[in-house]
Amino acid sequence: MHRVNLGIVGGGTVGGGVFQAIARNGGLMASRLGVELRVVRVAVQDLAKTRPVRIPAALLTTDWRSLVDDPAVNLVGEFIGGTTTAREILLHAFSRGKSVITANKALLSAHGEELFAAAQANGANLYYEASVAGGIPIVKVLREGLIGNQFTRIYGIVNGTCNYILSRMKLEGAEFADVLADAQKLGYAEAEPSLDIDGHDAAHKTGILASLAHGFWVNPKEIYVEGIRSVSRKDIQFAGQMGYTIKLLGIVKKSTTAPAGSKRFAPVQVSVYPALVPNTHVLASVNGVFNAILVRGDVVGDTLYYGRGAGQDATASAVLSDLADAALDLKCGIQNRVPPFVPHERAGAVTPIGDVVSPYYVRLSVVDKPGTLAAITAIFGRAKIGISSVRQPEGTEGDSVPLILMIHDATNADLTKALAKIAKLAAVKAPPIMLRVESFE
Ligand code: HSE
Repeated sequence: MHRVNLGIVGGGTVGGGVFQAIARNGGLMASRLGVELRVVRVAVQDLAKTRPVRIPAALLTTDWRSLVDDPAVNLVGEFIGGTTTAREILLHAFSRGKSVITANKALLSAHGEELFAAAQANGANLYYEASVAGGIPIVKVLREGLIGNQFTRIYGIVNGTCNYILSRMKLEGAEFADVLADAQKLGYAEAEPSLDIDGHDAAHKTGILASLAHGFWVNPKEIYVEGIRSVSRKDIQFAGQMGYTIKLLGIVKKSTTAPAGSKRFAPVQVSVYPALVPNTHVLASVNGVFNAILVRGDVVGDTLYYGRGAGQDATASAVLSDLADAALDLKCGIQNRVPPFVPHERAGAVTPIGDVVSPYYVRLSVVDKPGTLAAITAIFGRAKIGISSVRQPEGTEGDSVPLILMIHDATNADLTKALAKIAKLAAVKAPPIMLRVESFE
């Protein structure tokens, strides 16, 4: 029987989880694949540290280079996170012709293009199923299951921490800061939770999906990112009264038309922001730490993937899937049987957020006196922005009242300009709140 000798760099939650999962199901996988899977070395920072998953001392080393260079290791797993040492590990492994499995979305987001090129140049492969949405095999879906489709839309709830916080805020009418504190106590959110709640983790994942779907590596700086810090209990409540649930969405939308002057390629919206999702849409009912991704293909139509996006076991399951691919590649002697990333659209471009068109929810705090609404609607009218409904919910906020306007399709640039003018009206007492509404068209 063929054998894969895996060297794992990182003995923490992910590395330990992979070690445990191989111990549990390695035999089953061997029967299915005809390849024996063994962990032969594990590189850690501190040999003496107590780990959640016990790894035999004989396998441990503190020297990741010697692990990668070890002739007995024919596949490397990088599970340390971060972008500096992790990048070095991958490049070093490729330079030795060894393929790598990683779960590192930040690394791929920042250095994907370089790493895929290095893997290919050295006849190695890079497997990264665990980098997006944990246990959901979404990379396989895009690269294999739906390979015959153009991807017109991808909508993802890809950050479990944010989804947990927003779900509880809605269910309990709780404030953001209180639920965040709880999420930290439960270990869902990091002590420094910015990567999750400011949308960066979701942006890494959304960028990877967009790149795979559209064949050019999306520059993370071009992804428009808004997190959930500014989503208030009040907005969740008002949106709920109108039949919407607020979700942090990763959105990848292919425009139907190319920009003026370009006959070739219509740009792609790649963004992360909290959006109002109609309660009738299936993504509105994805709650707690779960992830879900809707992929629309031009041949297949809408498809939906749901599961645990984070945690030791979900991540380990995705790594096992990569391990199976790597095992078959090694068995067949074909390192790029399924290439990690094929840059097939060199002229690809990301739509600037200012050009993105959508409907909106706008909440204003205004003085409750005649003429206020007329002054606001006049500004929207002059900007040729249509209003689909206006509500003044019960209740006051000091000397002002809330005013909710639902806005027809407008560009982000036009709406932002109009709101800047509205903010200057004497009757408007707080900066306007704007959230995009997702119609899933
Ligand atoms: N922190 C992420 C989440 C999991 O909450 O979904 C790792 O990407």
